[in-house]
Amino acid sequence: MKSVVPSVLTNDYNELERKIRILEQLTDVIQIDIMDGELVPNISLGAEEVKKANPKSKLEIHLMVKNPKAYIEPFANIGAFRAIFHIESDDDPLEVIDEIKKYNMEPGIAINPPTPLDKILPFINLVDVVLVMGVNPGFQGQKFIPETLDKVKAIKKIRPEILIELDGGVNPEIGPNLISAGVDILNVGSFLFKEGDVKENWERMQKIIK
Ligand code: DX5
Repeated sequence: MKSVVPSVLTNDYNELERKIRILEQLTDVIQIDIMDGELVPNISLGAEEVKKANPKSKLEIHLMVKNPKAYIEPFANIGAFRAIFHIESDDDPLEVIDEIKKYNMEPGIAINPPTPLDKILPFINLVDVVLVMGVNPGFQGQKFIPETLDKVKAIKKIRPEILIELDGGVNPEIGPNLISAGVDILNVGSFLFKEGDVKENWERMQKIIK
């Protein structure tokens, strides 16, 4: 089952609320990008602001943070259903996965373009989703790095049933190639909001997975 998940990356509460109000009319899953300014050179809002915005959609949290363990309980407490942490973070991946499961959320593991695939292989049977970064994380509007599709193809060979989400630089032009390579979830950010009508842009993304 293929899907499109929009992502919201911001440190501005008004933008967070504005985008959530629009996206919750279009989709039942929204990804919130959480950044600590250490794992990535950018900082975002936190769990309290997301709670205040009171999204109607289910929340997938993308933790671009050095110590993801500290973020699990706060986001579980606001009802997130999935938490994705980076293999490049400082915490022990097994401990992070256990903490996510302790709060009955789905664990996901993310991998950046320069990181060799073998870094996540010991954990690939312990998570529900692998988030393959198509860009170096921290900002929206970057250009997709095609070589990251090699990871998608390799993961699908190793564990065909795992959900693979591709995040970064996604748009309708490259979408079909991503699906053919084995991507299950297209994560899209700036394409939806940068120009034109958000609903029309969303429909264009939906056509790719039909
Ligand atoms: C990048 C984030 C992505 C980003 C996607 O650090 O992890 O989720 O919001 O935005 P686009 O689609 O503009 O690359």
